[in-house]
Amino acid sequence: MQVDIPQVLFKNRHLGRPATIDEYMAGGGYEALRATIGQRTPAEVLQLVLDADLRGRGGAGFPAGRKWQGIPADHVGTRYVVINTDEMEPGTFKDRILVNVDPHLVIEGIILCAYAVGACEGVFFIRPSYEGDARLIEQETQVARERGLLGKNILGTEFCFDVHVHRSAGRYICGEASAQIKAISGLRPNPRKGGPRTSVKGLWDCPTIVNNLETLANLPGIVRNGPAWFKSLARSETGSGTKLYSVSGQVARPGCYELPIGVTIREIIFEHAGGMPPGKTFKTVIPGGASTPYLPEALLDLEMDFDPMKKAGQRFGTASLMVFDKDTCLVGATLSLMEFFARESCGWCTPCREGIPYVRELLRRIESGEGTEEHIAMLQEMLPVLDLAYCAFAPGAAEPLRGLLTHFMDEVLAHVTEKRCPFGNPPPHVRGKACGTRPPQFGPTPCPEDQCPI
Ligand SMILES: Cc1cc2nc3c(=O)[nH]c(=O)nc-3n(C[C@H](O)[C@H](O)[C@H](O)COP(=O)(O)O)c2cc1C
Ligand code: SF4
Repeated sequence: MQVDIPQVLFKNRHLGRPATIDEYMAGGGYEALRATIGQRTPAEVLQLVLDADLRGRGGAGFPAGRKWQGIPADHVGTRYVVINTDEMEPGTFKDRILVNVDPHLVIEGIILCAYAVGACEGVFFIRPSYEGDARLIEQETQVARERGLLGKNILGTEFCFDVHVHRSAGRYICGEASAQIKAISGLRPNPRKGGPRTSVKGLWDCPTIVNNLETLANLPGIVRNGPAWFKSLARSETGSGTKLYSVSGQVARPGCYELPIGVTIREIIFEHAGGMPPGKTFKTVIPGGASTPYLPEALLDLEMDFDPMKKAGQRFGTASLMVFDKDTCLVGATLSLMEFFARESCGWCTPCREGIPYVRELLRRIESGEGTEEHIAMLQEMLPVLDLAYCAFAPGAAEPLRGLLTHFMDEVLAHVTEKRCPFGNPPPHVRGKACGTRPPQFGPTPCPEDQCPI
């Protein structure tokens, strides 16, 4: 790690253990809270966040302050904060690491948000496979309570706020904000569209702010050091702050790195993550988590920031980079992602529920050497269909496919002309292949899964 790169979120990173509350406080932890509660108005905290241009770190990049402004000013009664730690997007593992590095940075950020939006209760929503982290947060929120930093009359003031941990039942769609509200409320977690935003009508119809955990962990720094400092951390013109980049796949040093917003993709992969492993050559990277497209080598010098990525037809997403080398089959990699998306579809709308398994089936055929050019055309036709879905899940699932067809068509065609995977992958299971129920003309469901004997 280069010494000149400011570590804000990972300032207290220790090998193999989280920072304690005393270590956090020794480095100025909870000073922002002390300088805020009873000293600043909630509106002043909101203004700091607006001026800092803090954008959400959960994928969509919506400005945090603007979201908070959505709470009706005249609302009397309960308001909630939901801390989104679902993190089921393949390739993304930053929130789990942040909780384990500095749980009190996260807790202070949550309390500052609650103060700014007038919330009395927080729900820490976490995926079930993060059970150890859920327990860590429960343990450390208790420590904060005992120090008077959480619960009734925080720091001896009138402000009361507490957090409890909610374990998800474990579906990817529960990470989507409106579905998450439903999941916590005990309802079927399909997303809600139209009607009032969750900041107006969320948990039990009360205003609810859903923010990603990393977004909130930026608040102590912003409040202590000011918006100008936060903006100066970024390297790009439009960016502000640092970012936790999860890097996985074919790199010498996979891991989670705190680097400025605006650092180039090349620098992340080839400097911080150590470049390609010996004997491997770079082919492509999915830059922002599984719902973003493959990025061609020519774009490696792109700045990792919301706006420059968008301008280049890419997506910043969760800034989680999955790196692929020249020996990896991208049809196989895309198929693997589609298996995930097909399994995780909430089933609410037809383009997603039927469309993603259809795409998966087409990719299975191409990967197994049974594909034709007609199948490739059918894949192309499915892209706009997936965009018609009810929520952002299916358009996100379409992104790796879009990247494959845009930048790596030669690889797809090679499967068709060679009638096998040119990378030597064994054929995947193709429904209906050997069971005799395959219709003469290829259709979306050649052999229903529940009837396929293979
Ligand atoms: C299918 C799907 C899954 C999502 N999963 C997560 C997640 O695990 N964590 C997260 O913070 N946001 C996730 N989001 C984005 C949330 O809907 C929401 O935008 C985010 O939590 C808002 O927080 P932020 O503004 O701080 O980023 C997901 C969105 C979709 C469509
Ligand atoms: S796009 Fe998929 S996840 Fe979203 S509502 Fe439709 S079926 Fe559910």
